[in-house]
Amino acid sequence: MVFRAFFLKLSESRTAKKMILGFPPTRRVARRFIAGETLEPALDAIQELNARGIWASLDNLGENVETEEEAIRAKDTYITILKAIHERSLQSNISVKLTQLGLDIGFDFCRSLLSEIVDAARQYKNMIEVDMEGSAYTQKTIDIVTSIHEEYPNVGIAIQAYLKRSEQDIRMLVEKNIKTRLVKGAYKEPPDIAYQKKRDVNANFDRLVEILLDSRQYHAIGTHDTKRIEHVLSYITSKNIPRETFEFQFLYGIRRDLQTNLKNEGYNVRVYIPFGPQWYPYFMRRLAERPANVFFLVRNLFRA
Ligand code: FDA
Repeated sequence: MVFRAFFLKLSESRTAKKMILGFPPTRRVARRFIAGETLEPALDAIQELNARGIWASLDNLGENVETEEEAIRAKDTYITILKAIHERSLQSNISVKLTQLGLDIGFDFCRSLLSEIVDAARQYKNMIEVDMEGSAYTQKTIDIVTSIHEEYPNVGIAIQAYLKRSEQDIRMLVEKNIKTRLVKGAYKEPPDIAYQKKRDVNANFDRLVEILLDSRQYHAIGTHDTKRIEHVLSYITSKNIPRETFEFQFLYGIRRDLQTNLKNEGYNVRVYIPFGPQWYPYFMRRLAERPANVFFLVRNLFRA
C-alpha cells in the first residue's frame, strides 16, 4: 500500500508523465494492459475473448475532460462503439468514467450525456457499467447512476472496498437492484475515509461480496486476488448460491490463466478492455498495483 501511494503521487508529476510518454518502449509495455489506441484492435480483442466464452466490457480511455465539446465527443464515441458491438454481434458491454462525460463541468450536463448513452445501449439491448473514480466523485457518481436507473435498469456501478462508506452504499444499491461491480479501489485516498492496510481492504471486500451474493441479484466481482476468489467459491457452496447469479471480472492482460480456469469451471467471466490514446493514468494505476510491473518497465527501458 505504501508503494502504491508513493507511485500514484509520483505519477501526477508532469516530469514523470513526460518521461513515460517520451520513451517508445513504454508503449510496448503498456500494450500488455491496453488493447490498442484505436477501436479496431479492441473489437478484435473482444472477439478473441468471446471465442473462449468470455464476455467483455469496453472502456474508451479518458478522464477529467475540461470542455463540453470533449465530453460530447466522448459520448458520441461511446454510442458509435455500442453500434459497432451490435453490428459485430459481440458479447460486450461498456464501461464509462463520469469525469470523461464532463462531471467536473456540471452534474446535470454529465447526467444528460450518460443518459443518452444508456438510452442508446437499451436500444441495442446492452448495458453500461459506470466506473468509480477518486472519492471526490463517489457521491455524485452514485447520485447520477441511481437517478438514471429509475428510468433505465441497464446501468450499473462500481464500488470500492477500500472506502469505509461502501457497506452502506452497497446495501442501498442492493435495495434498488442496481448491478454492482465490487473492486478493491485504485486511487490514493486518506485514512479517515479509506482502509490503508491490505488486510483491512481484503476483509471489507469479503464482507461486501457476501452482501452482494446474499441478494441473489446479478452482480460482478472484480478482482485478480485468488484468496478473494476462493472466499467467493466457498461462500456460494456453503449458501447454495448458483454460479449463474454473478460474474467474475478481470482487467485485460492480468491473470489470463485464472480467467480461463474459472470460465472452464462454468463461471461467468468478463474482461474489462481499455483502449484509446489516453492511456497514461490507467497505465500508471496498473503499475502502482504491483512493484513487479515497474521493474518490468524499467528493465524494458534499459533494454531499449
Ligand atoms: P491485488 O492488488 O491484491 O492483486 C492480487 C493479485 O492480482 C496480485 O498478486 C497479482 O497476481 C494480480 N494483479 C493485481 N493487479 C495487477 C497488475 N496491475 N498487474 C499484474 N498483476 C496484477 N478500481 C477503481 O477504483 N474503480 C473502478 O471502477 C475499477 N474497475 C475495475 C474493473 C475491473 C474489472 C477490475 C478487475 C478492477 C477494477 N478496478 C477499479 C481496479 C481495482 O480497484 C484494483 O486496483 C485492481 O483490481 C487490483 O486489485 P486486486 O483485486 O486484483 O487485488
